[in-house]
Amino acid sequence: MDVAILGCGAIGTEVARAIDRGEAGPVRLLWVFDKHRERAEELSRSLRSRPKVAGEIGEILADGEVELVMELASQEAVREYGEKVLASGKDLLILSTGALADPQLLHRLLEVKGERRIYIPSGAILALDALKACQLAGIEEVELTTRKPSSSLGEPAGLLFEGGVREAVEKFPKSINVAATLALVVGAEKVRVRILSDPSVERTVHELRVRSKVSDFFCKVESWPFERNPLSSKITAYSVVRLLRDLTETLKVGT
Ligand SMILES: NC(=O)c1ccc[n+]([C@@H]2O[C@H](COP(=O)([O-])OP(=O)(O)OC[C@H]3O[C@@H](n4cnc5c(N)ncnc54)[C@H](O)[C@@H]3O)[C@@H](O)[C@H]2O)c1
Repeated sequence: MDVAILGCGAIGTEVARAIDRGEAGPVRLLWVFDKHRERAEELSRSLRSRPKVAGEIGEILADGEVELVMELASQEAVREYGEKVLASGKDLLILSTGALADPQLLHRLLEVKGERRIYIPSGAILALDALKACQLAGIEEVELTTRKPSSSLGEPAGLLFEGGVREAVEKFPKSINVAATLALVVGAEKVRVRILSDPSVERTVHELRVRSKVSDFFCKVESWPFERNPLSSKITAYSVVRLLRDLTETLKVGT
């Protein structure tokens, strides 16, 4: 499978290196792109496969070999490039899911997609498999509590936010992809979000509590941050690599 990466920051770099090491299976990284071109150039130089560096997105869209474009950049990138990627006949992977809390953007992407697919990796949250199964039977309530180290948030200790997903995305755009991903499964109206700045934690902690008609569950994930971007968890990059592998493997485990 031939792919391109938009965004050569903490996650884009980790994903590109994993592809280069063969960990994503039979995947070729053909292009890298970043609005800071030097980041894409530096990343390309560090890889054995030496992907091409795009000066603008159009170069990637015009390449008929590229099958999947991975947005590992920002919500703005989803808004700026999402529809164009799909309209050019390529599949799209979206990591900055906060952008999809905007129902109009989500609708436009789904309209454009035609035969194409939009992939949303699990990112930094667990139990999406169980949540997807429970959703079919009926979800009663989903509660997400996210604690981030006060130092990485740059906010004083305490409860910073309690409320719904859309409002959370507006107030904390860089810290709320997990809530937005949950909302894509169960609907924004079912998800309650709490965000805490916590000086006692060294890593981001997500606690997910779900009540449904067939199963209630609670899970907690404590994730190591990237040194380069303490707001992002390393597991997120691995969830992208795992998704790539699943796309080409015969045996698929998990919902
Ligand atoms: N789904 C999840 O669970 C989850 C978890 C962590 C991070 N994220 C999101 O993934 C994205 C990447 O995270 P990161 O830690 O690698 O961020 P980062 O800041 O380290 O890197 C992002 C890179 O993308 C580039 N970029 C941003 N907007 C762009 C645009 N419009 N066009 C071209 N390049 C652009 C930046 O220059 C930067 O180099 C962020 O939006 C983050 O919020 C999602």
